[in-house]
Amino acid sequence: MTRRERPRVTEDTPDPHWFVDIFRATERYHRDLVGAPMVCAVQSGRIDPVTARQFLLQFGLSVIQPFPERLAKLLRRPGLQEDLQLFLRANRIQERAHWRGWLQMSQVWDIDAVDFAEVTLCPKAMVFREYFDALTDTRTPLAVALLGILSVESAAAKVTTFIAPALSARIGKENTAWIEAHAEIDTNHLADLREFTKRAAREV
Ligand SMILES: [Fe+2]
Repeated sequence: MTRRERPRVTEDTPDPHWFVDIFRATERYHRDLVGAPMVCAVQSGRIDPVTARQFLLQFGLSVIQPFPERLAKLLRRPGLQEDLQLFLRANRIQERAHWRGWLQMSQVWDIDAVDFAEVTLCPKAMVFREYFDALTDTRTPLAVALLGILSVESAAAKVTTFIAPALSARIGKENTAWIEAHAEIDTNHLADLREFTKRAAREV
């Protein structure tokens, strides 16, 4: 078990066809994300202040900042099984810490919490934001909401793989909390999330 992996709380089940299809579609989207100009610029190490600010503000506002609140709203749904509640609570605590880490990293480019309130999201960042909005809608089936989380967490892990070396070298050891938290993919956590998603679909 790696340093940041949590123990499994579910058992693996076979992936039904619908799950495989959705995941393939998600992976195509992830490839687009990894090829986005902002990610490429960071990856190349040519991080000018404008690109850095755009990257931090867009990803921060679309994904990192709203994540704990979206998990909290998901937790307020009636009828969630206890193991899923515990899983989501632990995730919410972790994602709150990750937002603090993102703010710390952003301060290297003179971005503070107030700056995020003045950002307009670009279309790609808006797509991620729409995933989160779906999670907050109580009419959204639980399985779809969990798929949204799974998709965003998988994307965060992939993007981090691409940007971590260049960003770590640029920002100094004292500001790398967010990068360190995502540098190793928590495979157990993602595997549990996949199982909770499939179980929620079976319960419909
Ligand atoms: Fe995170």
